[in-house]
Amino acid sequence: MRVVMIGVGYVGLVSGTCFADFGHEVVCVDKNAERVEKLNNGVMPIYEPGLDRLVESNVEAGRLSFTTELADPVAEADVVFIAVGTPSRRGDGYADLTYVYAAAEELARHLNGPTVVVTKSTVPVGTGDEVEAIIARSNPDADFDVVSNPEFLREGAAIEDFKRPDRVVVGVTSERAEKVMRELYRPLYLNETPLVVTDRRTSELIKYAANAFLATKIGFINQMADLCEAMGADVQQVSRGIGLDNRIGSKFLHASPGYGGSCFPKDTLALSRTASDAGTPVTIVDAVIASNDRRKASMAERIKRAAGGSLEGKTVAVLGLAFKPNTDDMRDAPSLAIIPALQKMGATIRAFDPESIGEARRHFEDVTYADDAYDTLRGADLAVILTEWNEFRALDMKRLSDSLADKILIDLRNIYRPEEVRSFGLTYHSLGRP
Ligand code: NAD
Ligand code: UDX
Repeated sequence: MRVVMIGVGYVGLVSGTCFADFGHEVVCVDKNAERVEKLNNGVMPIYEPGLDRLVESNVEAGRLSFTTELADPVAEADVVFIAVGTPSRRGDGYADLTYVYAAAEELARHLNGPTVVVTKSTVPVGTGDEVEAIIARSNPDADFDVVSNPEFLREGAAIEDFKRPDRVVVGVTSERAEKVMRELYRPLYLNETPLVVTDRRTSELIKYAANAFLATKIGFINQMADLCEAMGADVQQVSRGIGLDNRIGSKFLHASPGYGGSCFPKDTLALSRTASDAGTPVTIVDAVIASNDRRKASMAERIKRAAGGSLEGKTVAVLGLAFKPNTDDMRDAPSLAIIPALQKMGATIRAFDPESIGEARRHFEDVTYADDAYDTLRGADLAVILTEWNEFRALDMKRLSDSLADKILIDLRNIYRPEEVRSFGLTYHSLGRP
């Protein structure tokens, strides 16, 4: 099939490349000429493990290309995906649909022959109706269907998630569109991936419900971590103890400094707005949002307490800046709340992240960036683990202990065993463990 992917961000680039890898002919279109130029020179505009090789092999095979020009690829396409950003609208938390509607407007003119237009962006219920209306207004003769096909991939594991998803959801309004979507995803569901076919509005809501539910799991275990601290219990064992119950499931029960990233924060907020407007507020999700915001904001205070009550004149070594490992993405990362708060408390920051330092420079002032984890420790009084990159999981504790003037390690991802760290003479603080 001939596929156009509008938007080559984390979702569009991965999805477009994987569809090409399934054998479809894919043209990726982005307004951002710099991104497109990079891709045409074999340089990835984002960090995602394995993506460079997959892009290279599909470009070489002639199935994948990149352009800023929409017209010809759309005219020739069977399926056109909209995979542009839907960030929080500044000030009110609604999903900003400007980019989605602009893309619909732009593609409409060029439709030629029966085409399925698919919203892969995460969009509030009813957006498909509006996309359909925009296209019909701009091009009354167009022969098209609008389908919802939300994406569930995670950054850092995006290719694996796309190629081996738990399910594919498509929301359709016609049999013709369903047939096209089945053909597009045939390589997957032949592999026994369930294809959940619904109406368009239901599909749009499934995406928000999934993200809000996962965010709720994290919010819940983070509150359990606080309770464990107060009661002398161990949250890791609580997670294991409840997670082995299949009805609960063991995933997304890791205590953390709060969830971040480009999806959970904005999608929970957008769902909350949709629900309130519909007169059926999702108060559970509202509580999760508030509790996650409080949690991120409270982490600097926790670090100060662990440092003995003051950070004035202290140098803090920060390990990890991205919102999770294996990505360079810093959208809504806990580090964005924690580092400025530490600086306000009088701390000097030395930081290292394997992939996101370039991005971090745009966010922080007066941070010194180190070359690796051990370089971060130079002249530091204490160290804080903010992101659980693999390379932070087996640090030489003797070296840490020798380097840190105050011999304090604060592990906000629980990647070490307390007794082991303490055996090196370090004071160790983690989340929800005695
Ligand atoms: P992104 O910001 O990384 O990329 C969006 C891209 O779209 C940019 O390169 C931008 O230049 C381009 N763009 C915007 N308007 C355009 C237009 N009119 N024509 C051509 N290109 C245009 O976004 P992302 O993280 O890939 O997210 C895209 C959508 O997918 C969002 O709705 C998001 O909620 C959803 N989503 C994201 C993830 C994730 O892990 N990032 C996972 C699932 C779903
Ligand atoms: C998420 C969803 O998982 C994915 O299905 C959706 O398509 C996009 O949003 P992503 O944001 O890439 O994916 O990463 P994810 O692994 O879900 O982590 C999100 C945040 O939650 C991170 O800040 C992570 O550190 C945090 N998290 C995750 C926890 O705090 N505890 C956990 O147990 C799991």
